[in-house]
Amino acid sequence: MPASIGIPMTPLKNDRLLRALLHEPVDLTPVWMMRQAGRYLPEYRATRARAGDFMQLCKTPDLACEVTLQPLARFPLDAAILFSDILTVPDAMGLGLYFTEGEGPRFKHPVRTEADVRALGVPDPHQELGYVVEAVRVIRRELDGRVPLIGFSGSPWTLATYMVEGGSTKTFSRIKGLMFENPALIHQLLAVLAEAVTAYLNAQIQAGAQAVMLFDTWGGVLTTRDYQAFSLNYMRQIIQGLQREHEGRRVPVILFSKDGSEWLELMADSGCDALGLDWKIDIGEARARVGDRVALQGNMDPCVLYASPERIRREVQEILRSYGSGNGHVFNLGHGIHPEINPEHAAAFIDAVHSFSAPYHAG
Ligand code: CP3
Repeated sequence: MPASIGIPMTPLKNDRLLRALLHEPVDLTPVWMMRQAGRYLPEYRATRARAGDFMQLCKTPDLACEVTLQPLARFPLDAAILFSDILTVPDAMGLGLYFTEGEGPRFKHPVRTEADVRALGVPDPHQELGYVVEAVRVIRRELDGRVPLIGFSGSPWTLATYMVEGGSTKTFSRIKGLMFENPALIHQLLAVLAEAVTAYLNAQIQAGAQAVMLFDTWGGVLTTRDYQAFSLNYMRQIIQGLQREHEGRRVPVILFSKDGSEWLELMADSGCDALGLDWKIDIGEARARVGDRVALQGNMDPCVLYASPERIRREVQEILRSYGSGNGHVFNLGHGIHPEINPEHAAAFIDAVHSFSAPYHAG
């Protein structure tokens, strides 16, 4: 039974994020950070140690909820993001995900042959991924309407890179080799993933995710033609299949193709509400290119957080000035926060966005 039946949800006290994603007026620019619940927080490391390891943390809804809320206890963030990982979907498809120290994620059973692809099924989000759906419910209950909860998934292309390579890669040799040699096979894999991701995100929405984000971390390694055929095409299919209203509100969709700034106009036509930007593009230039078609989320270089709070404040002001007045900006980093960052520098970043953004929303 969907969580929304029976228990009425508390109305949102802070809806800046949802309003900004839909280009509606806000008093201040909302801000959150990719990987805001992560190793730079000592309390995260403590909870992960209690869980045993990272996957156990993801698979225990009460602990996933605990770490989701940790950054909110420290900082006045405008959103929570579900604590999980994009690789839960291939894990649920039977690939056997595990993490090794220093090497990142690995799969016991990578996908390499036609038989491997044929054997893949679409996981039931309420069964194999039931722990994620349950985490969403628990987090919504514990958030009690303080800020909206963002759900997420990897894009089919990004998931496929890990599934075919068997882990992280710098060269994308296997996935690209297959894509050029046997494109039909990769399309078959991507089609199954698109179906799986659509069902997974819809289950998150029904359990209470108030916005969803597609992480296309590796779309940017493709040529323009291949980006459209192998990445954007499947994200568009997913967006078309999503439930866009829940609890009487629109559920905005954010599309983030890292290294994809060349294709902003194409991405803006995907049916999403907002684009995530990495740090390389000037946000004012991005805004000029997409106009009012989509909101923009980003885009401070995460490495600025290594510098002093004074330098961080200046960078925030530069980005606010570049975006300019008016609606449609969600402040974020251009990629996830690094594990070595001093939490006080994250605090300075978040405070700067709120302290300096009011004039851009006046009148
Ligand atoms: O943003 C958040 O706070 C939500 C949680 C979240 C995690 N991973 C937690 C995590 C999200 C949204 C992700 C997405 C994710 N996972 C992506 C796409 C986003 C991106 O970074 O571009 C990718 C490519 C992955 C796959 C993945 N998971 C990798 C490559 C790694 C290892 C990298 C590393 O930093 O060691 C992970 C592990 C992971 N996912 C961690 C966290 C907090 C670190 C695990 C730990 O605690 O040791």
